[in-house]
Amino acid sequence: MLRTHTCGELTKNDIGKDVTLAGWVATWRDHGGLIFIDLRDREGITQVVFNPEFDKDLHKQAESLRDEYVIQAKGKVKARPEGTENKKIPTGEIEIEVAELKLLNKSQPPMLEIRDDAVSSEDVRYTYRYLDLRRPRMQKNLMLRHKVAKIMRDYFDAKGFIEVETPIMTKSTPEGARDYLVPSRVNPGKFFALPQSPQLFKQILMVSGLDKYFQIAKCFRDEDLRADRQPEFTQLDLEMSFVEEKDIFHLTEGLMKKIFKEAIGCELKLPFDVITHKEAMARFGTDKPDRRYAMEMIDLSNDLKDCGFNVFKQALSGEGLVKGFNLKKPKQMPRSRIDSLTDYVKAQGLGGLCYFKVEDKALSGPIAKFFDDAGKAVISEKMGAETGDILLILAGNSRLVNETLSRLRIKLAREEGLIKEGTFDFLWVTEFPLFAYNEEDKRWESEHHPFTAPYEEDVQYLEKDPSRIRARSYDLVVNGIELGSGSIRIHTPEMQKRIFEAIGIDKEEAKDRFGFLTEALSYGAPPHGGAAYGLDRLITLLVGCDSIREIIAFPKTQRAICPLTKAPSSVSDAQLDELGLEIKHED
Ligand code: AMO
Repeated sequence: MLRTHTCGELTKNDIGKDVTLAGWVATWRDHGGLIFIDLRDREGITQVVFNPEFDKDLHKQAESLRDEYVIQAKGKVKARPEGTENKKIPTGEIEIEVAELKLLNKSQPPMLEIRDDAVSSEDVRYTYRYLDLRRPRMQKNLMLRHKVAKIMRDYFDAKGFIEVETPIMTKSTPEGARDYLVPSRVNPGKFFALPQSPQLFKQILMVSGLDKYFQIAKCFRDEDLRADRQPEFTQLDLEMSFVEEKDIFHLTEGLMKKIFKEAIGCELKLPFDVITHKEAMARFGTDKPDRRYAMEMIDLSNDLKDCGFNVFKQALSGEGLVKGFNLKKPKQMPRSRIDSLTDYVKAQGLGGLCYFKVEDKALSGPIAKFFDDAGKAVISEKMGAETGDILLILAGNSRLVNETLSRLRIKLAREEGLIKEGTFDFLWVTEFPLFAYNEEDKRWESEHHPFTAPYEEDVQYLEKDPSRIRARSYDLVVNGIELGSGSIRIHTPEMQKRIFEAIGIDKEEAKDRFGFLTEALSYGAPPHGGAAYGLDRLITLLVGCDSIREIIAFPKTQRAICPLTKAPSSVSDAQLDELGLEIKHED
């Protein structure tokens, strides 16, 4: 080794030792003739000192060092003079008096500052990702990621799971996004798809009798990117035979408890709450509720059917909703803020925002005059109105009202500072509808994926009213984010065929796309179920950062490119020829 110690480990206990350190020049200071360098490596920073009285030549050499030069320094560990200690870092009470210096490599002036608090554009950060990753914060993020992956592997190993790698070059899997395709040279005109998840293979592993499978698996989805989405991301994927929902919950909860405790010292309370999709939609207007703050939604539709206010009456004459929540004693609600909230609601496609102010226990505001005392009393009572509150109410198409109210709730929680940072609100959302109606294509499609089992008692509605069928599926939601999802699967070929039919996949297509799965199910598939959790989202939560790009070593940008390698890039005509491909330029 070119060093005896790392830059993060020497303390008072090592005073007097001869040591060799190697690392990067993080800072360079000249104080009254002495040169101080903060030498940095992954483990920390150690101060090294060049004293001209001790060695003039060495001091001269040190003068030529610059930021990010890589050096090896040999010397003695000494106590820092009294009053100059830095109690904030573990090595802050010592320094190395350098007796020998070796320049291992020079560096160009770095394109970004290697400090946690330095601001750089995303483009610069990703183009020079190797410099960006030198930042202590980024190194900690990657180390935490490694630690969590190790906890996962140890946890599953101890429980008898085996990790099996599934193919990256495969056939399309229906997780709802576009596929990334890979042309086959050997089979011209044919393509592999990169897996959107290992879904089909893990089910086949259950048919194979593997019993308990897990994998830290790369998945690929060509979809619009957001702060919590990457085209290439990682799942903790698992599947088990002979299980029910509660077995997957129990297994997952034990894992989460261990990860949160060992990675960030946070004690989670088990078991996690379970609420049905129906209840989540009713109370929070979303299937990903964040319960760190209140503002639960109140459905006023039944109470206000006959009220005198046309906007509500109109909404309720069809299949619409009148629903709202109580913003408890907001900091301030001048007209301008109401106007901006109204604009926000209109931008989501609704006609406007209805509101009441609660003053002296009575409802006031522009729409108060449309309600008689009984109407106002019902609203007050149902929404728990108290002086100083603002009651916000939306009316219109159910889906739009729920979506908009849910967004408004999050927006106001942020604005009012109601979110308790550092807390984790875990919950299971169950009993999703099996199908969702696609208005555009005028057909039913799977809400999750077509391998999810329906509740047995709901199967009777398969042909009559698919909207009534509940899925044996579950999402794990944390602080309003979908961390994972899974289900008990269909395990008989007969049921699988019926579901394909219900979502309009005809026999030929079913055979072509998933025939191998249905056939596998026909060879004695055991009842099975599983789940997948987004590893990137989990680490983002643990670190407490805003974007999953902060915890992925080499992420893609919002435009799905890699500025470091400049991928994706053009390929030569010869390569295209070999693959039998031609580029159709649109310009
Ligand atoms: P699903 O599609 O819900 O389920 O994905 C599971 C979890 O993977 C994470 N995730 C993503 N993370 C980052 N970027 C993305 N683009 C992205 N897409 C998904 C989320 C999500 O909850 N095969 C099923 C699981 C199963 O049924 O067992 C599946 O993939 O955290």
